[in-house]
Amino acid sequence: MSKLLIKKIKKKLSVIGVFGLGYVGLPLALNFTEAGFKVIGFDVDKEKLKKLRKGVSYIDYIKNDKILKCIQKRFEITSDFARAKELDALIICVPTPLKKNKIPDLSFVTNTIDMLTPYLKKFQIISLESTTYPGTTEEELLPRIEKCGLKVGKDFFLVFSPEREDPGNSKFRTKTIPKIVGGHTQNCLKVGKELYQSSINQIVPVSSTKVAEMTKLLENIHRAVNIGLVNEMKIVADKMNIDIHEVIKAASTKPFGFTPYFPGPGLGGHCIPIDPFYLTWKAKQIGIQTRFIQVAGEINTNMPNWVIKKTIKELKLRNKSIKGLNVLVLGIAFKKNVQDSRESPGVELIEILKKKGANVNYSDPHIPVFPKMRRYNFKLKSIKLTSKSINKYDLLILATDHKKFNYSLIKKNAKLIIDTRGVFPVGTNNVIPA
Ligand SMILES: NC(=O)c1ccc[n+]([C@@H]2O[C@H](COP(=O)([O-])OP(=O)(O)OC[C@H]3O[C@@H](n4cnc5c(N)ncnc54)[C@H](O)[C@@H]3O)[C@@H](O)[C@H]2O)c1
Repeated sequence: MSKLLIKKIKKKLSVIGVFGLGYVGLPLALNFTEAGFKVIGFDVDKEKLKKLRKGVSYIDYIKNDKILKCIQKRFEITSDFARAKELDALIICVPTPLKKNKIPDLSFVTNTIDMLTPYLKKFQIISLESTTYPGTTEEELLPRIEKCGLKVGKDFFLVFSPEREDPGNSKFRTKTIPKIVGGHTQNCLKVGKELYQSSINQIVPVSSTKVAEMTKLLENIHRAVNIGLVNEMKIVADKMNIDIHEVIKAASTKPFGFTPYFPGPGLGGHCIPIDPFYLTWKAKQIGIQTRFIQVAGEINTNMPNWVIKKTIKELKLRNKSIKGLNVLVLGIAFKKNVQDSRESPGVELIEILKKKGANVNYSDPHIPVFPKMRRYNFKLKSIKLTSKSINKYDLLILATDHKKFNYSLIKKNAKLIIDTRGVFPVGTNNVIPA
């Protein structure tokens, strides 16, 4: 029966459902629509659905026009899970956050499956894309689906295919990022490969769903650990009056065996600060301690505090105190040129500064109003940068180095700048690297 489904996919007659129209699901749904499939996007966030139905994008690098064109083609948006009956492929892209104590919160994934099971039918492919620990597809999805009386590899096809979206990266898009696919059985893999190669240029098949799950974690842990390492080196370099950015630039001239990573005020985003702890948790279940992940986590988590400590030290040298100081944080997105502020170190800096009694504002060309967040709800609006507005502040902290900032205007008018991104050359008057 996998043959029938493969034939249907080849002819682009299959209907694809994407569950979770977030940073991962929305571009994926649009990509399948553009490849010629009928796509139904499902989400539980009514506000998001309302916007998307009108063709209004909430992600700044996805243009309204692109969504409108897809809606005019064959893209529908709904919260009605009963429509899963119409689907041949079900792709799950819902959040996988951490609970307190850094324990995986799989409730979004398991809730989605539980909402879907009444509508599942024979000969569908189900693919999980959310980042998670090895074993999730086999241990959490498989038994829930088989409870409906369907047999894997025969009645339905189960794969894990991790998303590798890099928001704001204009060099790579969903279609051009190679896609890892792991199937629960050989038949599952065959169908999975066919599904994704219908709209993505390169497929990388692996031998199991567990390998696919672990591959995604290796990619993200590799980043988290190396960023932790370079952040630690920054702290040492700072104490020794060495410019870490000059060091990284010099080391990058080595044509082999070195990959540059850049220090900053901490780690942000939905992935890098969170995903490594999915492996830590799973490893603990089998009696293994993931020391690299824990050490990198500690260093990266402590970076906002280190930046503030250094700021206070520099203020003291100038006979100033943080209490009552007017501070402007530049950039609250978790990385440059995006509007996503989840887990952002810039936001953490605001929180610490406020606790220490500073009057804090922010400026971010990508985030006009401070968004409601799980942990923070500051009633702030982005300050427009002009020579007058910049000069009003005692201190500017550059947390995210957006391209849209006018750095010469900032440098010319700021009284004092703490630069956490190495934008200004070391030795620049009124700039302190941190
Ligand atoms: N953002 C990235 O750059 C990125 C990159 C690679 C992998 N990932 C992984 O992809 C997954 C999704 O991340 P994201 O950034 O797209 O998250 P997101 O928060 O932007 O989007 C998730 C969407 O799922 C919706 N949702 C929640 N429960 C649902 C349900 N039961 N049914 C349907 N929709 C539901 C939410 O309303 C939201 O719109 C996570 O596991 C993440 O780790 C993210």
